[in-house]
Amino acid sequence: MNISNRLSGLFHKQCFLVTAGRVEEQNSTKMFVARQNWYYNLVVEVILSIMQEIETARLYLRQFTLDDLDDLSRIYSDPEITKYLTGVRTRQETESAIHTMIQRWEQNNFGMWALVHKIDRKMIGRCGLCFLDKTPEVELGYALNKVYWNQGLVTEASFASLNYGFEILQLDRIVAIARPENIASQRVMQKVGMKYDKNAHYYETDVVYYSMSRETYHSKVFL
Ligand SMILES: CC(C)(COP(=O)(O)OP(=O)(O)OC[C@H]1O[C@@H](n2cnc3c(N)ncnc32)[C@H](O)[C@@H]1OP(=O)(O)O)[C@@H](O)C(=O)NCCC(=O)NCCS
Repeated sequence: MNISNRLSGLFHKQCFLVTAGRVEEQNSTKMFVARQNWYYNLVVEVILSIMQEIETARLYLRQFTLDDLDDLSRIYSDPEITKYLTGVRTRQETESAIHTMIQRWEQNNFGMWALVHKIDRKMIGRCGLCFLDKTPEVELGYALNKVYWNQGLVTEASFASLNYGFEILQLDRIVAIARPENIASQRVMQKVGMKYDKNAHYYETDVVYYSMSRETYHSKVFL
């Protein structure tokens, strides 16, 4: 139970005890709870805004900006990289994708991070969380410039994304999907500890569906 829930429980208990002659006490409890909730929300906002930038061993995970347009266009215009995504995108479509990613962070407090390679400081891909198709489920997603494939970089970024989802957002479950023939993507899911659940159909495509619960995440992290 979080702080604001605990304080609101206290508030309801106080109200139950209040009689007509003790309205003053009720009002002061209400003000106390409102102030505590305000502090709580402020702390949560600060933590979330700090966590929007993450550092791993080889990567910086940061917010996208329009300065990433050239690098992201290089990725999104490559047919090999986009084969299992929505296909190649024009520069204009890529710009609109950046706007959408920025907007999603503002709306949900989660989204895709831009992956910056620490050694050459280049923006080399994206990884993070989003809502799965038309569902309330939260999905792990990624795409990387093929120059950097098979070095474990997306696995590294995915661990950071799961950590954010389970520890900061307190999600109960995170899922991931891939086309059955997308072996590299499924390998990432397996390496971060996700388990195959079922074959499914999302984004008008047949996919394999993996998931991980918070309990499983904790049992792996605290081993
Ligand atoms: C999927 C993707 C993000 C993986 O990124 P990455 O940084 O190369 O991933 P990692 O290096 O962490 O892991 C890739 C694993 O797949 C394995 N792999 C890659 N291609 C493979 C293939 N054709 N067959 C078998 N295994 C393969 C690698 O060997 C590695 O596993 P290992 O560490 O056990 O050797 C990257 O391939 C990509 O951007 N693909 C295009 C976009 C995409 O498909 N996104 C996912 C949509 S669901």
